[in-house]
Amino acid sequence: MAVSHIIEDEKALIEAIREIAQEKVAPRAAAIDASGEFPWDMKELLAQQDILAMPFPAEYGGVGASELATVMAIEELSRSCATTGLILAVQQLGSTPILLAGNEVQKQTYFPRLASGEWLAAFGLTESGSGSDAGAMQTFAVRRGDKYILNGSKRFITNGGLAQVNSIFALTDPAKGTSGISAFIVEKDFPGFSVGRIEEKMGIKGSQTAELIFTDCEVPVENLLGQEGEGFKIAMMTLDRTRPGIGAQAVGLAQGALDLAVSYAKQRVQFNKPIADNQGIQFMLADMATKVEAARLLVYNVAEMIDRHEKQISKYAAMAKLFASDAAMDVTNDAIQVLGGYGYMKDYPAERMMRDAKITQIYEGTNQIQRLVIARALLTEL
Ligand code: CAA
Repeated sequence: MAVSHIIEDEKALIEAIREIAQEKVAPRAAAIDASGEFPWDMKELLAQQDILAMPFPAEYGGVGASELATVMAIEELSRSCATTGLILAVQQLGSTPILLAGNEVQKQTYFPRLASGEWLAAFGLTESGSGSDAGAMQTFAVRRGDKYILNGSKRFITNGGLAQVNSIFALTDPAKGTSGISAFIVEKDFPGFSVGRIEEKMGIKGSQTAELIFTDCEVPVENLLGQEGEGFKIAMMTLDRTRPGIGAQAVGLAQGALDLAVSYAKQRVQFNKPIADNQGIQFMLADMATKVEAARLLVYNVAEMIDRHEKQISKYAAMAKLFASDAAMDVTNDAIQVLGGYGYMKDYPAERMMRDAKITQIYEGTNQIQRLVIARALLTEL
């Protein structure tokens, strides 16, 4: 049964998603990592269970789940398989510019098919020369009659080339800096859209990371999001609302690694007793659990702020992503240490979890950028 029938009850909803993740996602995680291919079966599972519909409003065919429920879902999926958790996180990332700035027609055109999972969404901000300095993009759009003509390319785009719906940011007035950036909905089938290099990655191997190339790409004027010049703010506001999802992915990864370390420590016997009897191991497990819990609370806190429609969320979203991703890196690394030689081998998922955790410190803004966002907010607050 799809999860939408229990959306009112967050606890029951998350238990249902945990069960789906344990029964159907976890057994696929190692094979997804080994193959490096996008797990269409997992996308179908999330679609059938209405999990992909969670971030979309009910009036457009979505479930209209709270942000708290959505981050909890990403966490539970990522506890079993971070690539599968990312499918939901990126569906939200690619669609949030439309949610924030889209008009009625745009929402009606795109949301029902994104909510049903028929279409995937992607977010095209990063370029080869503009990562942390997102405002330094070179891709530009010129209006010609009833079309914008886009030229340039985007790099490291999650689900790039698989997504039908791409939120793309491009300069419409280069003289105005970040105020000259506009946002567009670009469909994969628009003339002049093509997919370039597909990246080979260290982790989250089942997600496709691609280059998107625009060669005189024709985008109808009705696909401009908001007004010309609003693109950078739309991108920043989107990231404020989706960094908690990456925090949740990190919490899920860390919890998965902690689960594994605890169960291994209880059954691994050395010197005639389970290694869990050693305080050295107990202290490690205690520190790991404390980091996971602190990270989870930061993620849930900002999710609830989003649900309350609070305005000043940048700092809290950045803190949640920063702390949770650092926790995921530490905890997955420690899990390998608890498992010793076995942890380093592919027989156990600890090494995959550590490889998957690394990207959470980098994408949706490096943790150095998160610190910058936090510090800027601190220094401008009264
Ligand atoms: N909300 C609303 N407006 C915002 C904002 C926010 N959170 N942050 C900035 N702005 C506004 C500013 O108020 C300013 O407006 P005015 O011109 O009217 O004053 C304008 O945007 C420019 O802001 P800044 O001067 O602060 O811009 P900056 O060039 O110094 O850059 C930055 C700020 C925070 C460093 C930004 O470039 C940034 O976030 N960089 C990281 C990019 C990033 O996270 N990329 C991730 C790509 S997506 C991804 O990774 C997805 C994936 O694979 C899954």
